[in-house]
Amino acid sequence: MKIRAAVLEEFGEPLVVREVDLAEPRAGEVLVRLVACGVCHTDLYTASGVDPSGYAPTVLGHEGAGIVERVGPDVTSVQEGDHVVTLFSPQCRECEHCRSGRTNLCLAIREQQNRGFLPDGTTRLSRDGEPIRHFMGTSTFAEYTVMPEIALAKVRRDAPLEAACLFACGLSTGLGAAMYTAAVRPGSTCVVFGAGMVGLGAVAGCRLQGAERIICVDLSEDRLEMARAQGATDGWTAGEDIVARIQEATRGFGADYTFEATGRVAVMRQAVEAARMGWGLCTIAGVAGKGETLDVIPRWLIQGRRIAGSSFGGVHGRDQVPELVDRYMAGEIDVDAFISHRITLNEVNRGFELMEAQDGIRSVIQFA
Ligand SMILES: NC(=O)c1ccc[n+]([C@@H]2O[C@H](COP(=O)([O-])OP(=O)(O)OC[C@H]3O[C@@H](n4cnc5c(N)ncnc54)[C@H](O)[C@@H]3O)[C@@H](O)[C@H]2O)c1
Ligand SMILES: [Zn+2]
Ligand SMILES: [Zn+2]
Repeated sequence: MKIRAAVLEEFGEPLVVREVDLAEPRAGEVLVRLVACGVCHTDLYTASGVDPSGYAPTVLGHEGAGIVERVGPDVTSVQEGDHVVTLFSPQCRECEHCRSGRTNLCLAIREQQNRGFLPDGTTRLSRDGEPIRHFMGTSTFAEYTVMPEIALAKVRRDAPLEAACLFACGLSTGLGAAMYTAAVRPGSTCVVFGAGMVGLGAVAGCRLQGAERIICVDLSEDRLEMARAQGATDGWTAGEDIVARIQEATRGFGADYTFEATGRVAVMRQAVEAARMGWGLCTIAGVAGKGETLDVIPRWLIQGRRIAGSSFGGVHGRDQVPELVDRYMAGEIDVDAFISHRITLNEVNRGFELMEAQDGIRSVIQFA
């Protein structure tokens, strides 16, 4: 079928919204009609050409939500008409990692996905007979996409899809960092560095876990205000003195849990140092630039601080995204506050500009 999609043709150039061909879903695959899709930093990172593993041409987009249009052979977990959230982090429920229950890093389709192919090593996207690669296994800057069923979370039909799409990446990453990776205990003191989509999600996650004090640290007063609305008890301006300030506020010990959601290694170090001696856990969700390293004095670890990395918030996508959407529908998570701009697919490059200008938290593409 012919569809419109935003194609990354050349690194560093605007995406080109044009017609491409999309083939029918094969075994284990699903054709999804997109209804909404958030514009995330990873899309821009790849489009800019800075990501060394990037490739072109490809159809970007990974924060999608839509409706199942058709299923290929052997698909059992979703059917036509189901509402789904796309998962760049799939859950096959069968691989060693999925069965362990100890990680959300499913091994089933990793290699092919990283190279831009569907699990059978081919693409469904093309133009003039020439293949176009998929991006993050999702390619949701498009009217339709074909994805493996193990990469689709089925969500309740009464949940607005423009909100549900944010659970496909940034929001779940932040919520999950607090709820699953750190598993914050009630009554804790938490510090969240960064108040973008991920950090604000972490603030909400700490609140849902029953944290007593949630300090959010950012450079922007507007964003700190948003953090307060999500449950932060304190909003502090970032700076060199922030670790000392956190220690002061915690009788010299540091916070029970710290979260890093800026992608800056200097902030990651602050997050480690601001964690409490004895049991403080620092969870790192930010993605650092290629080649950057985190500088930690080993004594900080000997003193009982721990560091955990978190991909997609440790969320097991097919099982837990629907649960998170339920909590949104129960009024426990204010997702609508994160939708700053609604744009059309044709305006996708404007979504990038708004993100670079830090104008709002998320621009969401709405498909007619
Ligand atoms: N681990 C994952 O699976 C995953 C998923 C999505 C995004 N991410 C990463 O998470 C990070 C955050 O994403 P986002 O969408 O929230 O980004 P964002 O750019 O919207 O937010 C980052 C925030 O950090 C703040 N900041 C900058 N310098 C700071 C400092 N010195 N101290 C405190 N705050 C500072 C900025 O003002 C901004 O509000 C990025 O690195 C992104 O790549 C990771
Ligand atoms: Zn993302
Ligand atoms: Zn798996």
